[in-house]
Amino acid sequence: MRILVTGGAGFLGSHLIDRLMAQGHEVVCLDNFYTGTKRHILKWLDNPYFELIRHDITEPIRLEVDQIYHLACPASPVHYQYNPVKTIKTNVIGTMNMLGLAKRVKARFFLASTSEVYGDPDVHPQTEDYRGNVNCIGIRSCYDEGKRVAETLSFDYHRQNGVDIRVVRIFNTYGPRMLENDGRVVSNFIAQALRNEPLTVYGDGSQTRSFCYVSDLVEGFIRLMNCDEIGPMNLGNPGEYTILELAQKIQNMINPGAEIIFKPLPEDDPKQRQPDITLAKKWLGWEPTVPLDQGLELTIKDFRDRIEGNQK
Ligand SMILES: NC(=O)c1ccc[n+]([C@@H]2O[C@H](COP(=O)([O-])OP(=O)(O)OC[C@H]3O[C@@H](n4cnc5c(N)ncnc54)[C@H](O)[C@@H]3O)[C@@H](O)[C@H]2O)c1
Repeated sequence: MRILVTGGAGFLGSHLIDRLMAQGHEVVCLDNFYTGTKRHILKWLDNPYFELIRHDITEPIRLEVDQIYHLACPASPVHYQYNPVKTIKTNVIGTMNMLGLAKRVKARFFLASTSEVYGDPDVHPQTEDYRGNVNCIGIRSCYDEGKRVAETLSFDYHRQNGVDIRVVRIFNTYGPRMLENDGRVVSNFIAQALRNEPLTVYGDGSQTRSFCYVSDLVEGFIRLMNCDEIGPMNLGNPGEYTILELAQKIQNMINPGAEIIFKPLPEDDPKQRQPDITLAKKWLGWEPTVPLDQGLELTIKDFRDRIEGNQK
């Protein structure tokens, strides 16, 4: 199949492309390199079945493809809050452009939505029918309201124009190729511990998160794209850890002497986040297989190579 991956030079997109290329598909990667980098897809650049297009999805584009994995959007708060107007344009105009393309060429359209559509949830764990508790004027709303609109657009194109959609709600995912400066908790702690800096915990560290290793997530993507369910479907790892537990785990794995310091919690930071993956288990036979310790080892190795490589 000819498959378009928007945001393909990013963290999740590049891992997805590795899998699609290994499966023998023809892949078109479309990216504006805002948070993505050519380094992530370097190994495919000379492959005749791979094509890279530098393009901003807020502008329309015409391509012939069978499937579209729509991932383009900065995913970490530091990046999506840097230019919030651009973030919401990417989510709204960009998604509309990609749905328009899917409609025109009759491609199956996969939206990478997020657990952030649940906001600061008051039910726990979150099932797909929970409608969320989102602040529409907060500093995260360019992202979470943007993704909510992206989901609305997907379902409206589906109902009105018969576009074949799949919608996934991704919970925190980590792994090699996350950016060192993206401010996400796993990358922060690992980069700080490797640089001998104190690990920064926001709040008292009792807020919880669940962490899914990237290869598990990508497996879920491909299964959802190729099944008959349209979603929305949660994908994530239900194992729940406090942020302090995560900090201590990474501290022990890298640098037991590293200090842990506490800073004030940012605005609208959710207190708890844990996926209910009953639906994914039922419809995709999917559940995460990589334990946190093993995933962290692989991620730490990648960060170590980059950070120590840069120092040489
Ligand atoms: N990583 C996670 O834990 C997580 C959780 C929930 C949802 N998601 C979603 O998954 C998708 C991928 O996330 P990621 O972690 O790989 O993030 P990322 O920032 O590494 O990747 C996003 C990619 O999109 C590209 N991009 C951004 N705006 C663009 C635009 N206007 N036009 C073209 N390209 C553009 C960036 O350059 C980058 O390569 C995003 O849609 C994100 O919202 C990720």
